Amino acid sequence: MEWLNSGEGFSGIAGCQSTPKISFVTTNVGKFKEISALMRERGVQLEHLRTPYPEIQAESLEITIIPGLQWLLEKYEKPLMIDDSGLFVESLKGFPGVYSSYVFKTVGCDGILNLMRGISDRRARFECCIGFIAPGKDPFIAKGVSKGTIALARAGTSGFGYDPIFIPEGSDKTYAQIEVNEKNKTSHRGRAVEVFLRELPRLLR
Ligand code: IMP
Repeated sequence: MEWLNSGEGFSGIAGCQSTPKISFVTTNVGKFKEISALMRERGVQLEHLRTPYPEIQAESLEITIIPGLQWLLEKYEKPLMIDDSGLFVESLKGFPGVYSSYVFKTVGCDGILNLMRGISDRRARFECCIGFIAPGKDPFIAKGVSKGTIALARAGTSGFGYDPIFIPEGSDKTYAQIEVNEKNKTSHRGRAVEVFLRELPRLLR
């Protein structure tokens, strides 16, 4: 296993002199940007492994994530993390939810806006599950949720995916209208990373 020296500026993980380099497996550059910024602040460096892996279709993100982690561990035999996320719209009974990726690729943000035309209940939430596995260890899942509403029209150009149509609670801007550091403070992904970092010393022991 490859171990990172703490080096200067390591603020990191209580009880760990050094932190193993974790490979974040994702083809989504936006996810990597958000998570690596948060983890870097805490002294944990990530390697970006831009490779696809099998994602089963299941009724929850938590169920989807485990076979992916196991498949990757068998192939790479090192500490790995993945992120499975989705947008759940209340008035659409949670759709696109676990189908978020397919829906984004096919009809995108405009498809969701069309489905929501004339609907006044615009409540929605993002869910993010971060899965982690290391050789000889059980898989671990950290979950974060951010509540908000679906905008009436797209706004903003930063971020990725459904960011231009999601307004987080307490804001009047979409995620695509704010900087990544701002989004990370209250986002589903930011919250999942917090849980993950809290557990990481135990997971690495
Ligand atoms: P998956 O986790 O890659 O399956 O992502 C599901 C879909 O939700 C993809 O189309 C992503 O672009 C989108 N998505 C995931 N997280 C976010 C986010 O933080 N903001 C906007 N869209 C997201």
